[in-house]
Amino acid sequence: MSRHDRRAMLRLLGASPVLAAAGFGRSPGARADPSAQATSTPTAALPGTAADALDVFDLEAAAQRVVPPAHWGYLQSGVDGDRTLQANEAAYARYQLRPRRLVDVSHIELSTRLFGMSFASPVLCCPIGSLRAFHPDGDIAVARATKSQDALQILSTQASFSIEEVIAARGMPVWYQLYTTNRFDVTKRILKRVESAGCPVVAVTVDTPAGRNTVTAARLRREDTRTCSACHTVDEHGNPRLNLAAEPMFAGIDTRGLGLTSPALTWDFIKRVKDVTGMKVLLKGIETGEDTELAVEHGADGIIVSNHGGRALESGRATLDALPEVVRAAAGRVPVLVDGGVRRGTDVYKALALGASAVGIGRPYAWGLAAFGQAGVERVLEMLNRELRLAMAGCGARTIREISPNSLTH
Ligand code: FNR
Repeated sequence: MSRHDRRAMLRLLGASPVLAAAGFGRSPGARADPSAQATSTPTAALPGTAADALDVFDLEAAAQRVVPPAHWGYLQSGVDGDRTLQANEAAYARYQLRPRRLVDVSHIELSTRLFGMSFASPVLCCPIGSLRAFHPDGDIAVARATKSQDALQILSTQASFSIEEVIAARGMPVWYQLYTTNRFDVTKRILKRVESAGCPVVAVTVDTPAGRNTVTAARLRREDTRTCSACHTVDEHGNPRLNLAAEPMFAGIDTRGLGLTSPALTWDFIKRVKDVTGMKVLLKGIETGEDTELAVEHGADGIIVSNHGGRALESGRATLDALPEVVRAAAGRVPVLVDGGVRRGTDVYKALALGASAVGIGRPYAWGLAAFGQAGVERVLEMLNRELRLAMAGCGARTIREISPNSLTH
């Protein structure tokens, strides 16, 4: 089926009351937050090109029209009743900005340094597995977009393309997200491979030790009438089955009995990783001061406060609410990054004001990718950066360093 036919079919599907009832096309967070609801894009106003999008929700609506239900469910899902996912987005509405007047804001500078590397903005693209589920160019389109916007890209272990292909498309390194696997010989081999490819930083994801219950994804899969096995392996119920042998980052590895993560890992794993790599090691998925202390003790070079976009543990705290205690515990020893629920430049501003060194987005850039490929991802970054710039001007902060907790009220 051509992309055009697919669009037409999905426009029809998008109008289905069954899908609407299942929340198809609307992030659960948007449903939970009345202020976000007000931004949802009427069908007639859907952007025809990436440049037409006025905010990331326009791209969410445009993506909804072209992404098949099962893949849409994969993208939008949290776990159980999606409460953590909703909490992530809703937390940003509980903070307001305190403007400062008569500061010369004719020059606003977003540039951000992390581990000696410089990026045009603190907004970065988080790792997302299987990006080809949203657009055939997947991680390659993201590589080209982040290159043109001079933004950081973190590549997933479950990327649709190899790290070598992605770095070639980007013309500069990416950071790599590591799923630990359950065999250290494999972990070590992957670490060596990504380091030789030129990757300077690895983010070890530690928030999904023992599976998860993605109800929204499972529900929307039932609405999908396509034959999933035509593209990927499925189990006897037709649900996608993990097939590491087919994934680019596991090429050449004996994947029999291999798991993506292990429920048995403990803190000494971080030291083992540090012992076999020269890359900086971040922990992705830390949410408490206690774990921050342990992470630093065990040699972590940085923290990403994350709950996997609400896809790991249900009834969790918003990452924005976890951020202050992590920043306090890190006490300036290592940088603290955050992701989850960031949909506006003002959200980025708020996370920076609470002490984040950089701010990750997941679903918003996937919406841009699905709707318009590389141009859609570029548009997402442009819009968030523009909104951030306006927030900085309004609060009298001319550089990222000038953003202070004093500019927030709760
Ligand atoms: C993710 N995330 C993720 N994280 C990770 O460490 N490795 C991965 O492969 C993936 N894959 C993935 C797929 C999809 C579809 C989503 C939505 C998310 C989590 C991601 O890196 C990030 O933490 C969240 O997406 C941030 O939240 P928002 O911006 O999506 O709300």
